Amino acid sequence: MTARVAVGIIGAGPSGLLLAQLLARRGISSRVLERSSREHVEGRVRAGVLEQPTVDTLHAAGVGERLAREGIVHHGIELRFAGAAQRIDFSALVPGRNITVYGQREVVRDLIATRLGDAAAGPEHLCFEVSDVEVAGLGDDQPVLSFTHAGRRQQLGCDWVVGCDGYHGVSRHWFPAQMSQAFEHVFPFAWLGVLAAVAPSTEELIYARHERGFALHSMRSPELSRFYLQVPADEDLASWSDARIWQELRTRLETVPGWRLESGPILEKGLAAMRSFVHEPMRYRRLLLAGDAAHIVPATGAKGLNLAVADVRLLGAALADWYERGSATGLDEYSAACLQRVWRVQQFSCWMTRLLHVLPTDDAFERRLQVAQLEAIAQSQAAATMLAENYVGLPPPGPSS
Ligand code: APR
Ligand code: PHB
Repeated sequence: MTARVAVGIIGAGPSGLLLAQLLARRGISSRVLERSSREHVEGRVRAGVLEQPTVDTLHAAGVGERLAREGIVHHGIELRFAGAAQRIDFSALVPGRNITVYGQREVVRDLIATRLGDAAAGPEHLCFEVSDVEVAGLGDDQPVLSFTHAGRRQQLGCDWVVGCDGYHGVSRHWFPAQMSQAFEHVFPFAWLGVLAAVAPSTEELIYARHERGFALHSMRSPELSRFYLQVPADEDLASWSDARIWQELRTRLETVPGWRLESGPILEKGLAAMRSFVHEPMRYRRLLLAGDAAHIVPATGAKGLNLAVADVRLLGAALADWYERGSATGLDEYSAACLQRVWRVQQFSCWMTRLLHVLPTDDAFERRLQVAQLEAIAQSQAAATMLAENYVGLPPPGPSS
């Protein structure tokens, strides 16, 4: 007999784990199938800026305890360019709204610990090291997932299948070709990300535009700093010794009189491509997409995780409406509602990326325009408010919007 579950979820990143958690709190069964090991999933260093609605959703999901203790609330960011520093003051520009610095890795660890501690969720509701996930029965609304786990090929019948399997996942390829449209832009540079055991040299995040390229000073805790450097798209990580990384960070960040960057041991470094991607639509019959499976934004605005949480918040509510009230409205509107936000956030992330990075193809004219745009933000409250409004995050959609 084929096992059954209400919602089959592919992928145990933030999207899949949070959806499983929100459903469990409404008494809706799910099973999460993850390709990698728990250690791998918990070890990935990703972004670390949470919008307030994201924090609220994590609290509502019952996974906000450590976040409340360890998350650091920030009321502004700094832009550095042309030898000057400009603070974007959220309290003045978007009163009452702020962001919380808390690593995505910690969000994932909190979610996994909570899901694995959920005794009521049934056996194997969260499976790691699952391979060859396939689907059948989508065409007649009776999806069945097949997969290999613990050396055994298994079948799982589902009411709904949710692809939370990220950009490299399989689920969006299950849409019929004529019902699937992808929009993609790859930026001609990458980010070299660094985690270092050193107290941050700043209280707020610093976004720096430098002639040699973009640099970002972020943080994880009073003892851990996070940095990014713009590097060529085809960069070889091996060419970045720790000494070279610190030297380049100093060159791009120490541009303000009297400001010094503290260095320390580098714990982790890696390269990340800068890409925009949107898959339309986000639903085909009983198959739904959420998070990076449907969209990627360039990391400059720190929006990837927040966008994923926005999808899952809507989807959790829509599925609850379907199970509790028999209403299909939320599920019918899910794709359009998500995509409207996705494109708004895509626009902001691309704009902020273009504002701060130096493209190999930029001529002297383009470079002057870029600095003029940054000066406009420094001098015009309207321009700064536009940045602040988007950075702290668009308001979450209401139940009927
Ligand atoms: N079968 C099972 N699991 C899969 C498969 C597959 N075929 N393909 C991918 N996965 C798993 C990956 O191993 C990963 O753990 O799906 C998960 C997808 O997680 P993420 O890539 O983290 O995507 P998502 O959960 O949507 O998180 C949103 O926010 O900051 C951003 O990009 C960042 O990860 C981030 C995202
Ligand atoms: C991070 O801390 O990892 C981070 C912060 C801000 C960004 C991107 C990443 O814009």
